[in-house]
Amino acid sequence: MWGDSPAGATALSGAMAERRQETEILRVHCHALCTGKKRENGIMQEYTRKKENGKKTERKQKPVDKWKRIEEELQTLRRQHLYRETKVIESAQRSHVRYQGRDMLMLASNSYLDFCDEGRVKEAAAQALAEYGTGSGGSRLTTGTTILHTQLEETLARFKGREAAVVFSTGFAANGGILPALCRAGDVIYSDELNHASIIDGCRQSRAETVVYRHNDMADLERKIRERPGRQGLIVSDGVFSMDGDMVDLPGLVELADAYGLLSMIDEAHATGVVGATGRGCEEHFHMEGRTDILMGTLSKAIGAEGGYACGSHILAQYLKNRARSYIFSTSLSPVTMAAAKRALELIEEEPWRVGRLQENIRWFCGQLRERGIETDSETAIIPIRIGAEEKALKVSGMLMERGFFIPAIRYPTVKKGEAMLRAALMATHTKEELSSAAAAIAETVAAAGLEG
Ligand SMILES: Cc1ncc(COP(=O)(O)O)c(C=O)c1O
Repeated sequence: MWGDSPAGATALSGAMAERRQETEILRVHCHALCTGKKRENGIMQEYTRKKENGKKTERKQKPVDKWKRIEEELQTLRRQHLYRETKVIESAQRSHVRYQGRDMLMLASNSYLDFCDEGRVKEAAAQALAEYGTGSGGSRLTTGTTILHTQLEETLARFKGREAAVVFSTGFAANGGILPALCRAGDVIYSDELNHASIIDGCRQSRAETVVYRHNDMADLERKIRERPGRQGLIVSDGVFSMDGDMVDLPGLVELADAYGLLSMIDEAHATGVVGATGRGCEEHFHMEGRTDILMGTLSKAIGAEGGYACGSHILAQYLKNRARSYIFSTSLSPVTMAAAKRALELIEEEPWRVGRLQENIRWFCGQLRERGIETDSETAIIPIRIGAEEKALKVSGMLMERGFFIPAIRYPTVKKGEAMLRAALMATHTKEELSSAAAAIAETVAAAGLEG
């Protein structure tokens, strides 16, 4: 037996002593802490009574309201017309949706090519569901890479004309992974002032010096680069700006990056499937294929699925797989999502009319708005209708909702304070008649809200 040898007996008595000590500690703890309430000067006070080494101590707890600051902030948001709530849609995301039991024309969705509810995309997803089940069961580097993940990455790389692609769980996670992987303390990231929140957060996480340059202002960018000679780093910009719908000056950005030895990165979230003759994005639009170092994007907009990605060289892909924390430490997307995204990308290649129809709709809608006195000239599926005051933007949006047009108000912090707007987003499947009636309703509503003050 264990206690038969002298060494064993010593060990046994040691273990028993330890257990006795544990029991004593437990007993002391059972009696040590007690909390309660008592009245003092007519006010109910909470107290904690403690017994330590036979001595009793009593500590009054300050009556603090832990939620006070949070509740006050919520009140302030309500007062400033900046409080946000979800709008619950009761159908699939498509050009017509059901909302609060009514049919609405959807004019705000990022599903620009209307793939969320496309028959063949859903078929591919259903097949993946039957074969691979619902979840991926692990992160990409453990058990979460199926053949569908690698097939999607190959399809993406081909679509973007790059050697390789790396898929992340969201676009937000992609920017939060790529930027801190490529840049560190001592480096500089030059970032457009209107870049998406995920880029801003990615810059913060990297600990590099973040230098914000004026929107699409290449002279300001160059001035700021020159002020930091010889510093290693990266220039990053939205390809299509997510709220204003304008495009990056890609020729200017790439020229500066190359001239000063900086990496160039664009976020193609709203460019993929939208701009360029065949929807391949900003490089195709500017006839600059292969010139940007890192093409980041998301599968959650025109592709109609979920997930973010980076496209570039093999060395970029290898590096991200080893260094990007949001790639390494997060469960990978389900095979169902991978199959849907891959089929949607193939459909863009097989049926170029979709991108053509979307671009035609953009021209038509902008023309219809201009005819009604609303100045706009977007080349992308995002068409901002500037309102100004948050309260007024909410009012216009509410009036349009009443009339069956789903188009929410965009307010701070998504845009600057006092620069609230309606952000119309078009789909390839909107008809010209729908867009004309939407343009008429928007013009009438904006005018009516203006008259009301
Ligand atoms: C420019 C831009 N980048 C990144 C993202 C984040 O992508 P995701 O929604 O896939 O997380 C968005 C989403 O709104 C975006 O507009």
